[in-house]
Amino acid sequence: MEETKERLQKVMASCGVASRRKCEEIILAGRVSVNHQVVTELGTKVGKKDLICVDGKELIKEPLVYYVLYKPTGYMTTVSDPYRRRLVLDLLPKEITDQYRLFPIGRLDYDTSGVLLITNDGKLSYRLTRSSKEIEKTYQVRMKGLITQEVITELTKGVIIDGIKTKRAKLEVLSLDKKNQSSLITISITEGRNRQVRKMFETVGYPVKKLKRISFGGITLDGLSVGEYRPLKPHEIKVLYSL
Ligand code: URA
Repeated sequence: MEETKERLQKVMASCGVASRRKCEEIILAGRVSVNHQVVTELGTKVGKKDLICVDGKELIKEPLVYYVLYKPTGYMTTVSDPYRRRLVLDLLPKEITDQYRLFPIGRLDYDTSGVLLITNDGKLSYRLTRSSKEIEKTYQVRMKGLITQEVITELTKGVIIDGIKTKRAKLEVLSLDKKNQSSLITISITEGRNRQVRKMFETVGYPVKKLKRISFGGITLDGLSVGEYRPLKPHEIKVLYSL
């Protein structure tokens, strides 16, 4: 029987190299070899017997691990930063980051805090971040000004940012602070566009002062303080795979 082969980037992601998209960049950069031949074709298929090396190091399947981190503001969600800003991965113990090739699932802005999933499972990352998947993310927003029902309706129905209308959102007003002229609300969205929440509020004339993600696909900050992390429980991983 002929051996089933899989796309190189898929195999790399499932071995925990990085997300599938990032693996494609790594291949294009000429950092990957298959049976000692550098490969830069994204369509390359590999089988179980092929020797794959990334940066000259043999690819070995590592156990898959999953964490939720309460990201503080002032940290980058990339795995490296040319300006040497602090990275979310620095908040995990070195024994863990040395052992596994971890990366965050999706992004949070430098100045956003809250729920961030971190894993070495490229397959789950791909499932949760591809644009066709509508994973609910809920944010707590402290914004300038007193929000009106009209604006809530507008944001719920969708507003144009970067030339494209946002999908339906759910909003809830938590409190209105008349003295300081600010509002605290939650917004749930199913997209993950760049700086989406900030841009949505800017569009309707209410700049965001503070942004915190309080839930990602049902995973919350419960039991965590800022900067803390915990491993996900098996049933939580199962739920994320079922979304
Ligand atoms: N929306 C934003 O504007 N920023 C984030 O970090 C996440 C969602």
